[in-house]
Amino acid sequence: MTWSRRAMTGKDMAGDLITMDDLTNEEIEALLNDAEKLLPVAKGEVFLPLLQGKLLGNMFFEPSTRTRMSFETAMKRLGGNVVNLGALASSSVTKGETLFDTMKMVDGYCDVAVLRHPRQGAAQYAADACEIAILNGGDGAGHHPTQTMLDLFTIKQAHGKLDLNVVMVGDLRYGRTVHSLSHALSRFGAHLTFIAPSSLSMPEELLEDLQKTGAKITVSDDLLSNLPTADVIYMTRIQKERFPDEDEYLKVAGIYKLNRSNLKDVKQSMIIMHPLPRIDEIHPNVDSTPHARYFDQAFNGVVARMALLCRVFGVPVPEVVGE
Ligand code: CP
Repeated sequence: MTWSRRAMTGKDMAGDLITMDDLTNEEIEALLNDAEKLLPVAKGEVFLPLLQGKLLGNMFFEPSTRTRMSFETAMKRLGGNVVNLGALASSSVTKGETLFDTMKMVDGYCDVAVLRHPRQGAAQYAADACEIAILNGGDGAGHHPTQTMLDLFTIKQAHGKLDLNVVMVGDLRYGRTVHSLSHALSRFGAHLTFIAPSSLSMPEELLEDLQKTGAKITVSDDLLSNLPTADVIYMTRIQKERFPDEDEYLKVAGIYKLNRSNLKDVKQSMIIMHPLPRIDEIHPNVDSTPHARYFDQAFNGVVARMALLCRVFGVPVPEVVGE
């Protein structure tokens, strides 16, 4: 189910980040520059209390390790503080409290909130209900724009530019990370190759949206033949929890797997990314190759989210000198 937009507060929406359409290319570039400056702060080499006195609400209605922890790390490294909804079982959600009422509470308690929710459209619904800025930490099979910011940062860190051959692999139907990332990369001139079995191909409406904006797209179901020309391989997990029927999941589980032996003919500069968690789509023997970037990518979540939090509060990021 997709919730419709409900304009309930008439607030200035500038601080909300629901999809990548909420950021212009210029804003994305400025955020990537800010993220770069914040690296020494994320590493704990410098304490820079830009967000002292500010409180973030971490509202996670679905499991998360990276998004939840990197937001918390980002806020605390910048001198701010965090309250967590915590385990759903110990919240009043178990008593039947609605998302609207729950978000009205955090609207009073906090200065900004991150929402992860299993339903597509939940972040927009929450943004319409709240006066504080809402950052979409993943809404079902919808969008994951804060992940996109760290993905763009990781690609730029490796290649210095974004107009590259980017191959996205796996669950493109339900994969919110690839939905947001493909939108952003197409705006920066990337050539996108989508590799998925037919049951998990990119949603038709998303493909149409990309095509309308002149995106360069190739669709395939073959991973190995697309490896040699790739600058970035973006692997994704087949998400068991999104399938309405387990039999359908079992038909495609484990369909794409990268192993060190597959990397003989790839470009030296090619990087392998994954939003994580991984199951079996990247063998651990890839981790020690120079192509593996998924752990750096996860670390970059801290700087990307620091930059976004500073934007919410209109706090300029100064040049930072690290150790
Ligand atoms: N990439 C990502 O969203 O990871 P988590 O589900 O652990 O937050």
